[in-house]
Amino acid sequence: MTATVGPGTARGALDAIRRHLSPQLALVYGMNGSGAIESSGRGTRLKLSDGRGALDFGSYAVTLLGQRHPAVVAAVRAELDAMPVSTRVLGNGTTAHFAAALAAYVDPERLTKVWLGLNGSDAVEAALKLARLATGRTRVIAVEGAYHGKSLGALAATWNARYRHSLEPLLGGVTHIAAHPSAIPGAFATGEVAAVLVEPVQGEGGVRPLDAGFLHALASAAHEHGAFVIVDEIQTGLRRCGPPLVSTDIGLRPDAVLLGKALGGGVCPVSAVVATERFYAPLAADPFVHTTTFSGHPLGAAAGTAALVAVEALAGRGQHLAALLTTGLAHLARRHPQLIADVRGRGLLWGIEFAHPAVAGDVLLELGRHGLLVSPCLGQPEVLRLLPPLVATDEEVEEALAVLDAVCAAVPDEFRHLAPAPP
Ligand SMILES: Cc1ncc(COP(=O)(O)O)c(C=O)c1O
Repeated sequence: MTATVGPGTARGALDAIRRHLSPQLALVYGMNGSGAIESSGRGTRLKLSDGRGALDFGSYAVTLLGQRHPAVVAAVRAELDAMPVSTRVLGNGTTAHFAAALAAYVDPERLTKVWLGLNGSDAVEAALKLARLATGRTRVIAVEGAYHGKSLGALAATWNARYRHSLEPLLGGVTHIAAHPSAIPGAFATGEVAAVLVEPVQGEGGVRPLDAGFLHALASAAHEHGAFVIVDEIQTGLRRCGPPLVSTDIGLRPDAVLLGKALGGGVCPVSAVVATERFYAPLAADPFVHTTTFSGHPLGAAAGTAALVAVEALAGRGQHLAALLTTGLAHLARRHPQLIADVRGRGLLWGIEFAHPAVAGDVLLELGRHGLLVSPCLGQPEVLRLLPPLVATDEEVEEALAVLDAVCAAVPDEFRHLAPAPP
């Protein structure tokens, strides 16, 4: 059933998106929703404007606690009733409490300093500035395939040429190296480095867990050369991949950890740099060296504090769901060897690599029609990302796996004989 035309209808919304936001977005949203738009959500379940339901296994990793987690909503409501914006000439207790909770969550001994932003790229920008200011150096080493955002500074550390080439020159001094230990010495040989910036599992780059040996070698080389280690856990952190942080789980000792996406509990936009005193020294010396109007926004701070508690309470559930997914996706790959080239991931972050981007595109659309929303990968269009929330039930995971299986089984023959896309 398609919604009727009129103000507030799906058709009206898609028209407005087409006219005022982007025709291409209107087309994609229209196709993904078969003409419907999203209207409400609770936990893993969404309601669409035409009355259909959908399972949210996507939302680009934001809804780790599902939609409208009750504790997060209650905290934000309380803040709305108290003081939703800060004067920024007075201290704010909600923001202060969040900063303390975040440091306690990440590493209360070493990473005690916090800068708050709204988007992940805010955190990346702040970290790049702090690394440069604290070292007096400008070079940054990032990794091929990396995604760190699209604001001009963050974009310099993002690998994908599609988003970079028409804007170059970007922020200077960023070098991308292959994710292999042999690439590390050369990168440090060509001049002093301020920091290495790395995702332990590349998310947008196709769900690629980086080898722990490589990450250790990179971090050791950075520290030997007086450079900082910045770990971008905007997608992987907060138990998305199992542990609170992937980096500390594998024994890294980062100088700064970046968080975002799920940090606002799926309710508010919040991001953070959580850092050592040495990394944070420029801000300690002058807190106005990097400011934004809504940094530390009380609504986001209230959401974030509640989210940290909620995420920890669901840690065991996350392990259980991860085990279901690991088995289920391996089974799916075995059942569809012609279509699925690989499944990989960790915890509740999984990528299904299809034989060709066109297959992934077809599957994405059909999943939407069958009520399963997943996220594509910006840097690798043949990979679809599965990002179930910690609040998903076993039945919802089984349902998602069954939909995936049915959609793969129905992929038309013409898609089955496509040659793999060139790397
Ligand atoms: C690892 C990582 N870093 C940074 C970003 C940028 O975050 P945002 O889109 O919120 O600016 C993203 C977004 O996908 C990300 O996955």
